[in-house]
Amino acid sequence: MRAVVVRRPGPEALAELVEVPTPEPGPGAVRVKVAAATVNPVDLMVRTGVGGTPFAAPRDQWGVGWDVAGVIDAVGAGVDFTVGQRVIGISDRLDVSLAAQADYVVLEAQNVAPAPTSVPATAAATIPLNGLTALQALAALDLTATDSLLITGAAGAVGGFAVEIAAARGIRVIAAASAADEPTVRALGATDFIPREADLPNAVRALVPGGVTAALDAAALGPDALAAVRARGRFVSISVPTTPIPLRGTEVTTVLVHADRSQLDELVALVDNGHLTLRVAETYPLDQVVTAQRRLAAGGLRGRLVLIP
Ligand SMILES: NC(=O)c1ccc[n+]([C@@H]2O[C@H](COP(=O)([O-])OP(=O)(O)OC[C@H]3O[C@@H](n4cnc5c(N)ncnc54)[C@H](OP(=O)(O)O)[C@@H]3O)[C@@H](O)[C@H]2O)c1
Repeated sequence: MRAVVVRRPGPEALAELVEVPTPEPGPGAVRVKVAAATVNPVDLMVRTGVGGTPFAAPRDQWGVGWDVAGVIDAVGAGVDFTVGQRVIGISDRLDVSLAAQADYVVLEAQNVAPAPTSVPATAAATIPLNGLTALQALAALDLTATDSLLITGAAGAVGGFAVEIAAARGIRVIAAASAADEPTVRALGATDFIPREADLPNAVRALVPGGVTAALDAAALGPDALAAVRARGRFVSISVPTTPIPLRGTEVTTVLVHADRSQLDELVALVDNGHLTLRVAETYPLDQVVTAQRRLAAGGLRGRLVLIP
């Protein structure tokens, strides 16, 4: 089968499509025939490494791709999926030599859930990584309907899901994004909008005297976003390098996404009930992964890029 890998991470590294043996699922795992796999910022980090250092122990190759939608093609022992079942799944590791951007991917059954019935695979593939990140970031903030929540990068993949889920829970959402994205984030349920050119802390305090009770920093702004949070408020970073120091008694948490079957089920139910908006920017054949990564790196995308094997 074909798989996207990075063989020598570094500033000039490119993802490569290579021929590899089709992997077999062991006990507790399934093999998914990939129908769609998204391209995410983390793919660019696998390629370059962080600060020139590869993510995990050096090996011949690093697998690329976290999100998948497809069909169960083979099952290991003790698995409650059947061959032919449509699923979504997440490869939530960096220390793997094969991942979701491939003709087939082997995943632990706990990383997989039945696919939504209301959307095609291209859209379904956009759910796992960024939907789980949004859910887990909101859980870490432990919000109630009395909270005011700043979401930076509100028009992005994580930010958009977080806006829609938090707003549906009755939380006042203050969205920070590019001015052109105001209609989009308001349609997702944001109560207030701050354009990215604004002085964020002052703009937030003009809306919520003293600052918001909580912030989800999906644009990785770090200290600027924390400054918009009131003393002893709560802050979630989803980017390790930009996690700010918890000044003024704030509680700062860095959330790194992990697979969770019941949360995948929750996201699928939201989609099928029309409460979670999926956005696909463009699709590319799997062999155009380098072009897709360049398009992502250029910025300004609205919706996810999806690779089709
Ligand atoms: N911790 C985890 O487990 C986890 C999981 C998923 C993602 N992430 C990370 O989370 C971040 C967001 O991921 P994503 O997939 O949602 O990226 P994305 O879709 O590119 O969204 C980021 C958004 O932030 C916007 N933005 C940039 N600067 C801004 C500013 N100053 N004010 C307001 N908005 C701004 C971007 O607009 P433009 O495109 O116009 O610049 C874009 O809409 C990335 O750093 C990613 O690596 C972490």
